[in-house]
Amino acid sequence: MKKVQQHYDEIAEVYDRRYDSRRGRYYHGHIRDHVMEYLPKGGFLLDVGCGTGLFVQRYVQEEGQAVGIDISPGMVRHGRKRCPDCGFFVGTADALPFRDDSFDALASLLAFSYVPDPEATLDECYRVLAPGGRIAVCTLSRTVFTSIVPFIYRMGERVGLKGVGVGNFDEHYYTNAEMERLFCDAGFEDVTTSRCSFAHLKLIEPIFTLARKAEPFIERKLPYLAYNVCASGKKPEE
Ligand SMILES: C[S@@+](CC[C@H](N)C(=O)[O-])C[C@H]1O[C@@H](n2cnc3c(N)ncnc32)[C@H](O)[C@@H]1O
Repeated sequence: MKKVQQHYDEIAEVYDRRYDSRRGRYYHGHIRDHVMEYLPKGGFLLDVGCGTGLFVQRYVQEEGQAVGIDISPGMVRHGRKRCPDCGFFVGTADALPFRDDSFDALASLLAFSYVPDPEATLDECYRVLAPGGRIAVCTLSRTVFTSIVPFIYRMGERVGLKGVGVGNFDEHYYTNAEMERLFCDAGFEDVTTSRCSFAHLKLIEPIFTLARKAEPFIERKLPYLAYNVCASGKKPEE
């Protein structure tokens, strides 16, 4: 975990540039919108692995209140700048420093692949959600395209390549079935999984434009080709 923290501290300054381009804005915006669909609007949200606060900002735009937590103090610093009225905390997903039943909504975007203990992380998410609260976790899934990514990132580290996410972090990419099992085992009900995003920011034009056009079809009809899995659920009412 220390290595992930160091990596994100190092790239915190440039992280948002990744999503400043037209492609980047579309890619992350699409994921944010997708996650929003599974959460109650206007509640109190915790974003786990919040990074620079992109989703915290999105959530509070719809009348909600939000706090974020991230292992990287560098990323958290940028979150505080982006949303000065929201709370940002440094901490790990598997030991959340919040009281039981504190939040109406819990989100995690593009961070779950890093957590070394997914069961402990979801137990913590369950604990801090209020009864009836909803959770949505969007993370890289294992597909024909993504299976090779951890290998490329490991090789990248060996040859001294720099970039967001480049390194050997023991990442785990999940199938829908794995996410469903993890959510059910943690005690969530109404568990669903969907696939999200095919137009990746790293695709060059005009492939990106084509992928963007095909994205709704891929997500609905060929979901195993979409890059991210979004798992959602609800903490049972008491
Ligand atoms: C790819 S970034 C995503 C950030 C943000 N959610 C977004 O969508 O822009 C992954 C984030 O997960 C954080 N992270 C990794 N492992 C973590 C852990 N165990 N607990 C909390 N945050 C973690 C990293 O520090 C980093 O900010």
